[in-house]
Amino acid sequence: MKIFLDTANIDEIRKAKGLGVLDGVTTNPTLISKEAHRGTFKEIVREILDEVPGPVSLEVTSLRYEEMVRQAEELSSLGKNVVIKVPLTSDGLRVIKTLNEKGIRTNATLVFSSNQGLLAAKAGATYVSPFVGRLDDIGEYGMRVVEDLKTIFTNYGFKTEIIVASVRHPIHVYEASLIGAHIVTMPYQVLERMLQHPKTDEGIQRFMEDWKKVRQ
Ligand code: E4P
Repeated sequence: MKIFLDTANIDEIRKAKGLGVLDGVTTNPTLISKEAHRGTFKEIVREILDEVPGPVSLEVTSLRYEEMVRQAEELSSLGKNVVIKVPLTSDGLRVIKTLNEKGIRTNATLVFSSNQGLLAAKAGATYVSPFVGRLDDIGEYGMRVVEDLKTIFTNYGFKTEIIVASVRHPIHVYEASLIGAHIVTMPYQVLERMLQHPKTDEGIQRFMEDWKKVRQ
């Protein structure tokens, strides 16, 4: 399973990269806005693109087909690792198809149902991002969409990869890995929590104390 960081924060990206487990990054307008104090949009993005060798999703901010295609072309010129995030609307679906024909990779975002994901895959999306946390928030079982998409993509041999998005806690990662989702994109705090276990800390403390009793 590939691990993406869902952030535009360069320090978090560097820390995750340092752990040796970072495969890519996803951003969105909200995440970029949290880093607005660091510089312009392009300055923020260039720093991320230079740091991450894997795919980096950058989102279009128009809802009109022509403008989304124009923005996508501009964004993809920023680096070879740029993936264009496109919201799953009717214009968005057309954009995904057009970008696929131009050889530009896409990430269909704001996906909340398996039928939306199926349409994105048919249009040629490189990635599809079901938002599990936001579905859980309204009392639906978000991971069901991931399970269904995994089955649908296998049934029809779609190459589209599933990015489990809107991840809130390590249980989401655990469930996604059992389903066999290709990728999970997570906030840095979730990655940190995956590492932690109180019994590991307790075990280390005991080993350290016992080791002091051994004459060197
Ligand atoms: C996905 O790519 C999105 O950036 C993200 O996962 C949204 O998560 P949120 O529901 O925590 O905002």
